[in-house]
Amino acid sequence: MSLTPISGRPQGDPGQKISVASLKEKKLRHEPITCLTAYDYATARLVDEAGIDIVLVGDSLAQAVLGYENTLSVTMDEMLHHTRAARRGVKHALLMGDMPYGSYHMSAEDAVRNAARFVKEAGAEVVKLEGGEKRVDLIRRIMDAEIPVAGHIGLTPQSVNMMGGYKVQGKSLNAIEQLMRDAVALDRAGVVCIVLEGIPREVAAMITAEVNTPTIGIGAGPECDGQVLVFHDLLNMTEHAAKFVRQYGDGAAMIMQAAQAFRADVMTRQFPSDAEAYHLPKETREALNTVLERKRTLRR
Ligand code: KIV
Repeated sequence: MSLTPISGRPQGDPGQKISVASLKEKKLRHEPITCLTAYDYATARLVDEAGIDIVLVGDSLAQAVLGYENTLSVTMDEMLHHTRAARRGVKHALLMGDMPYGSYHMSAEDAVRNAARFVKEAGAEVVKLEGGEKRVDLIRRIMDAEIPVAGHIGLTPQSVNMMGGYKVQGKSLNAIEQLMRDAVALDRAGVVCIVLEGIPREVAAMITAEVNTPTIGIGAGPECDGQVLVFHDLLNMTEHAAKFVRQYGDGAAMIMQAAQAFRADVMTRQFPSDAEAYHLPKETREALNTVLERKRTLRR
């Protein structure tokens, strides 16, 4: 199977490889950073071709693709399997692997080993993990192993049980101060970028102005240095879209329409047509007809 190239770049432009350094440069130039999730070769290839800067193999894999209730169940092996698939499709974007729940919570050794698996076994260039101040020592240990790390603060889905649900964070003065401490700690630790999820626009704007590290928002308003969306949200392929999601296409309607049309054509024998069938060469067809005719004559 081949995929039709759809390029977000001018024809013939091979596109610049996005590196960790490119993100910081973009922040300095006030150039917005784009990030989408992708969990497989075909999608990652298209997202990369579209000129997106970061392809994130998010642990949202859990709900978007694997049908789990939340991100807590997705395993290292599942994340690695999908990161490897995305790796094969990504040429220009920075490939970021999301460390799943439990892969960095037990011990620093475990965290470094799992981060290294993302790089060595799946080709990730950056790993992302959730948490601010309290993760800084761990982040430094992973960076000591030459692995760039992205932070993620605010509404951190792996803390759903601690938060008591998926609730917008940073709404009280205390919570805002903690978020600011988290962002500054991640900035000082030297993370590649900080995902700000589910926080008020005003708080995201303050953090973005305070830190040198690029911020990538999801449900955090327009002042962030970049924006990320879950691919399946972008295409109306998730069951419940959050307020911050903008749907850029209706993948659900497209799939439903195509599957129903296929079914109807098969049921009415309109698919495949003769033009969609393979045919014998003329000589073989004639020889076959002769054989069949001879058999029919013998049977009479
Ligand atoms: O897993 C994911 O998709 C994420 C994004 C929401 C940032 O972490």
